[in-house]
Formats: sequence, structure tokens, C-alpha cells
Amino acid sequence: MSPPSTAPAWVLPPAQTQSLSERIGALHAQLRRVAPAIDRMACALYDPAEDLLKTFVNSTAHGEPLRAYQYRLSDSPSLGTLARERRARVVDRLDLLPLTDTAHSHWLREQGYRSSYTVPIYDGDTFEGFLFYDSLTPQAFTPEVVDRLEVYTQLVALMISHEVIAVQALVGSMRVARDFAHLRDVETGTHLDRMSRYVRLIARSLTGARQLSDEFVEQLFLFAPLHDIGKIGVPDALLLKPGLYTPEERQQMQRHVTLGCEMIERLIVDFRLGGISGIDILRRLVAHHHEYLDGSGYPQGLRGDDIPIEARIVTVADVFDALTSRRVYKPAFAVEDSLRTLESMARAGKVDAECVDALRRGMDEVLAIIARFEETTEH
Ligand SMILES: [Fe+2]
Ligand SMILES: [Fe+2]
Repeated sequence: MSPPSTAPAWVLPPAQTQSLSERIGALHAQLRRVAPAIDRMACALYDPAEDLLKTFVNSTAHGEPLRAYQYRLSDSPSLGTLARERRARVVDRLDLLPLTDTAHSHWLREQGYRSSYTVPIYDGDTFEGFLFYDSLTPQAFTPEVVDRLEVYTQLVALMISHEVIAVQALVGSMRVARDFAHLRDVETGTHLDRMSRYVRLIARSLTGARQLSDEFVEQLFLFAPLHDIGKIGVPDALLLKPGLYTPEERQQMQRHVTLGCEMIERLIVDFRLGGISGIDILRRLVAHHHEYLDGSGYPQGLRGDDIPIEARIVTVADVFDALTSRRVYKPAFAVEDSLRTLESMARAGKVDAECVDALRRGMDEVLAIIARFEETTEH
């Protein structure tokens, strides 16, 4: 009989603790050993539903990184062409190009970047975003350097797809499961579309005050639709009940949080998401999205600082969308009335006032989200 080995073959590797930004930073440091002129590596993610390119992770050797920035791909015809034609582009002299009006090109110019290399990244046929390499040196991207970058580009694309695409697959299958569980009769898929965008809007506007990274914002955006995953385990009769709940029914309904936590742990194993750096964001938002700052929430009755920022953001986004949309038990309330309700909840010490302010400040975007992801009536 062979001696027992210390670690059986099926034991999963330890959770990856490095964030994607840290891994990109390490890759960049390595790259600079062979191509020292590459001063910046940055990845922007593409959201096809809104045609938005959003800053995601970056490693910037000199100057200030560009943060919490997004713009429409259709506003940049040259990038749009690269994405469509799967073509990379070298710009030898950024300083000689006519200045377009995107903040991105102004920023590049202000930081003193002189040349750049832009590569679209794909998962199969799906365009996922861009990888930007920038240099303070003019004409840094010679054919030899570009050749060398090939392998780094592949690595970054793999890291991104491992993290982002695995989560998208998870969210996609959850949407199917929701439909089977008749959850969509209570909260439609557009609820998830809108609330996850409110989440991003709030998170983006708190990046400075709460020191949130772009990577955190995007991960939170990706994970937010899973907040109520536990409702899949709640009986239809309860989900679809139009009237008030009895105390027992309420308790049963509130169990969706602990059910959700259990489901997430299983999904993390089944989808092999243990190594994803933002996975604790998902755990926390599922576990705490019904907690209130004054301790009156559930399931744990957490208070104040014990409620993490990701849960505070999700709570405000979720309540706002519940108020502004029709549910089996209530009509849709007007946007202004709903905001006032949230503001009085903030004054009462229940929800995070800065998160509510962010919605108020982002009103134009809120209205655009409502218009873009309008409630459909087909069930
Ligand atoms: Fe919930
Ligand atoms: Fe919800």
C-alpha cells in the first residue's frame, strides 16, 4: 500500500488572492524588462447592451492612471473599426494626431504619451474590449516590439476571460434558472439589467470618496444580478402572492438570503470560480443586501461599518428599482417620489446616504437606464 499523500489530487488549488490589477501590474513589470519603453498597459471592457467601453484594469508606470471613465464605442469610429475588423493598430506619433474630443485622447496627450498600440480582445467571436499599450517614447511600437507583445496580449485576454466570462456564464445560467422558477413573473429580467447599472453608477461615483478601483466597480456590476439568487429556492406560491405576507411567510421569504449564500458556495465550486479575485464581493453582496445600517435588516441584523460597501450599494440600487417598477403587490412609483423615499430612509439611518446622493447626482443616467431597459409586458 502506498503511503497517504499530503494533498489528494482532487483538492482545489488555494483561492487566488491577487486581484486582476495586481496580476496585470506584475505582467507589466515583466514586460518592461524586455520592452522598457512601454509605460502603460490598460484594459477597457465593452458592454454591448449600452455600447460602452469602460476602464477596467491598468498598470501605469508614469503619471496618473485614467479611472472611472467610460465612453460609447460609436463615438470613436476608429476604435469601432478595429473591433469590427479584429485589427490591432499602432500609432507612432500620438502628438501629431488631430485631437478627438474624447476625454481619453485628451488624457493621453496630457500625460505625455507619444505612441500607442491598441489590440481588440475577443472570446471566440464576441468582442470583449481593448488592451491599450502606451509609451512616452515616439515610435516605441516597432514590428519587433509588437511581436513581443503578442504573448502578453494573449495572457491578458486569458486572464480577463477567466474572470469576466466565467462570471457572465454564471449570470446567464442564473437568468435561465430564474425563468424556470417563475421568478421573472415577480421581478423581470429588466430589473436585473437596470439594478446592475444603478449599482455601477453609484459605485463609479464613489470611486474617489471610498477609494474603489475600476476593477471593483466592474466586478460589482457583473455580480449584482446574482443578489437574489436564493429566491430560486422560494416556493412560487409565496413569490407570486399579491397581498401581504403572514409573519411565517415573511420569514420563509427572508430565507432567500441564506439559501442564496448556500447556492453561491455550490456554484463557486461547480463553475470553478474559487480562484476569481472578486469572488468575495459576490459572497458579501448576496449575504448582506437586506441589512440596514441601523441594525433593522436581515438575516444578521448587522449595523453600520459591519455592512460592506458592496452590499450598501446593491441595497440602494435594488430598493430604487423595486420602487420605480411595478410588482405583483404594488404599482410603479415616480422616479422623484422613489428618490425621496430613499432619502428619508437615509435620514432614518437605514441606507447609505452617499449611495442615495449618487443616484440623485446621476439622474440623467438613471433616466437613460430606465428608458433603455424598459419593462416588457410579455411573460
Ligand atoms: Fe433579496
Ligand atoms: Fe432585486
